Amino acid sequence: MRIAVLNGPNLNLLGTREPEIYGSTTLSEIEGRAREVADELGVQLAFAQFNHEGDLIDAIHALGGRGTAPGVAPELREKADGALVNAGAWTHTSLALADAFSSVKLPFVEVHLSNIFAREPERRHSVLASGARGLLCGFGAYGYEMALRGLVHSLRTGKR
Ligand code: DQA
Repeated sequence: MRIAVLNGPNLNLLGTREPEIYGSTTLSEIEGRAREVADELGVQLAFAQFNHEGDLIDAIHALGGRGTAPGVAPELREKADGALVNAGAWTHTSLALADAFSSVKLPFVEVHLSNIFAREPERRHSVLASGARGLLCGFGAYGYEMALRGLVHSLRTGKR
């Protein structure tokens, strides 16, 4: 089974970016832990971060088996079984991302470090959530691990 972990804008700055909200764990530490969990679960992992929305959309198309995404990393060009997504601020605004997932029917779980429902009103809505298998937020970096386990379980059992 192949899983992609996709991170949206500004998440490359984790560790120093507003640590009181997002914690002090860096994205590469999150990636390291996700790879350990993936090994334990016996799944292949691709891990990437995007500051440009179109690149993420290209990657979703390729991961869904549509399009070649010439501009994205080789490990994202192969079809995946599912994705874990922290779309950052695009979560709240991007119908284009929601459309990309539904267009290629790539199953995904949404994850956020912070509890978006306890934050400013404009962050309390996700345009992705209605298409997601599940949504996990508020557990900081540990949420990636939980969400990865949940996604793999859901894909293996067919249960939501
Ligand atoms: C975030 C929450 C978003 O509102 C914000 O724009 C982010 C990070 C989170 O992980 O808590 O960039 O997705």
